[in-house]
Amino acid sequence: MEVMKTASVPDLRAFMSVALRKQGVVGAIAPSSPALARALTAVVPTTGTPVVVELGPGTGSISEAIRRRLAPGSRHLAVEIEPHLAEHLRRTKPWMETIRGDAADLGALLTRAGVERVDALVSTLPWSLFPGERQERIIGEIGRALAPAGAFTTVTYLHAVPLAGARALRRRLRSAFDEVLTTGPVWRNLPPGMTYVCRRPVARV
Ligand SMILES: C[S@@+](CC[C@H](N)C(=O)[O-])C[C@H]1O[C@@H](n2cnc3c(N)ncnc32)[C@H](O)[C@@H]1O
Repeated sequence: MEVMKTASVPDLRAFMSVALRKQGVVGAIAPSSPALARALTAVVPTTGTPVVVELGPGTGSISEAIRRRLAPGSRHLAVEIEPHLAEHLRRTKPWMETIRGDAADLGALLTRAGVERVDALVSTLPWSLFPGERQERIIGEIGRALAPAGAFTTVTYLHAVPLAGARALRRRLRSAFDEVLTTGPVWRNLPPGMTYVCRRPVARV
């Protein structure tokens, strides 16, 4: 079944052990499927040596899809708040730069990593679990980190689309980016998801 295919047994075990204890941080019942990973990572350039940032990598389902697109010399940074997951990623995916930290501190984390501008940013953060000011702050950090021609993608699970947190996210994305394309649903994911592709951040303060 493709919805579970990206996750190896150790990845699945690490994901479930944190997801069961900390549903309020993880916000998903399973790692993303290959279909969702493909949809979210289409913005990652396959040429040149871009800087790509992933927010909320979990056990790395999206990381593998990013890696497949990147040419040698590119940078791939992944910001994960959960210490056990960050440790798991460092062990199992040494080819990317895992940063244990909060997406709300993205600017400071990137400065510390010597990154000035990000060409593509992919997030699977659990937006609907975040209070409004946290959504606002993270979207602001993303907008300031992105290069002018950069792109940002993220996902909302289909069942959450009508809920207040997801509606607030869409409103915030539309006021922070000049272009927000909604694509999907991606049915082959547990649960199915809608993706947003955002370009040209409008607020650079
Ligand atoms: C829905 S899971 C997605 C995991 C994985 N990327 C996937 O698609 O299978 C959300 C991930 O975001 C992480 N996370 C939650 N809040 C975060 C924050 N403020 N900063 C960084 N990571 C965060 C969680 O620990 C979890 O790994």
